[in-house]
Amino acid sequence: MKKILITEFMEQDSVNKISEQFDVNYDPSLHENVERLSSQIVSVDAIIVRNKTQLNEALLTKARKLRFVGRLGVGLDNIDIDYCSEKSIVVQPATGMNADSVAEYVISCSLSLLKNIPPAHQGTVSGKWPRSPIKSRELQGKTIGLLGFGVIGKKVSMLAQAFGSKIVAYDPYIPQSDAEKYNISLVKSRDLFECSDIISIHLPLTNETKNLLNYSSFSEMKNKPIIINSSRGSIVNQRDLVKAYNDDLISGFALDVYESEPVKEDFYLNISNTMNCILTPHTAGVTIESNKRVGQFIADKTIQFFK
Ligand SMILES: NC(=O)c1ccc[n+]([C@@H]2O[C@H](COP(=O)([O-])OP(=O)(O)OC[C@H]3O[C@@H](n4cnc5c(N)ncnc54)[C@H](O)[C@@H]3O)[C@@H](O)[C@H]2O)c1
Repeated sequence: MKKILITEFMEQDSVNKISEQFDVNYDPSLHENVERLSSQIVSVDAIIVRNKTQLNEALLTKARKLRFVGRLGVGLDNIDIDYCSEKSIVVQPATGMNADSVAEYVISCSLSLLKNIPPAHQGTVSGKWPRSPIKSRELQGKTIGLLGFGVIGKKVSMLAQAFGSKIVAYDPYIPQSDAEKYNISLVKSRDLFECSDIISIHLPLTNETKNLLNYSSFSEMKNKPIIINSSRGSIVNQRDLVKAYNDDLISGFALDVYESEPVKEDFYLNISNTMNCILTPHTAGVTIESNKRVGQFIADKTIQFFK
């Protein structure tokens, strides 16, 4: 019987489904113990991970029988893809399965930050009744700039258009026909910085995208946009982001992902209750519904792979 190791949280029905067919070891905190993980990976045919298990070369060289990696989510930056393809190990992300959750997160942050909800809430609960000056704005008629127009970028564009927003996107790797199909304009990154009221990032973390938003790019933004990052932390230079906010180059930000996770003190100590910002702990893609979809999808793919 094939052996499957699951090193992070997987929805229970999905664990049960693969357990009917395989010898499954479900140990959701195993990713925290590299030594134990190293000894267990030796004999498994497949491993299922989220984003905390670091499947680097040092670990993968121990996995002599490994043929399949299931990723409970998208974004493969915790997996040595080159090593896997060299050794013909199939890596299966749950493409699209949490896209609705992330897209809704982006819309909810856009609305909250346009309406200055975080400081309004803090002011009200501290008894200040901060009614004026009113800075609240509408999503209707705003330009949303999407960095990356893949599965999630496309979902965001559809939701945002229902609110009457105009969409521009920077993604040199997609065909013009995608832009026509989704009724958006493909632009250069510099033009997107110049015209957007909200900038939301939906890129993979690569050498090209690392540090893409830094003080110099914030300086090119003309409309004091709101910045939303639900992709990967290192795409935005966090120190520059806070400086850009304090220098009034941007009017708010939402971060779900950070340069290092959990987020470090030297970052959050610079955040105050009066700032128009929302910080969440890498949960944009995690909902009760998406956990089910992601788990079932990877369970099915694992079963199909070994058929
Ligand atoms: N916070 C969360 O919970 C969460 C959940 C799901 C996904 N994510 C992150 O969101 C990212 C986007 O997910 P997706 O499913 O839309 O991925 P996707 O692969 O469908 O889309 C990514 C897009 O980025 C484009 N791209 C790649 N390099 C680029 C570059 N240098 N410049 C401009 N465009 C470039 C690609 O052409 C592609 O269209 C993932 O990489 C993942 O890390 C986060």
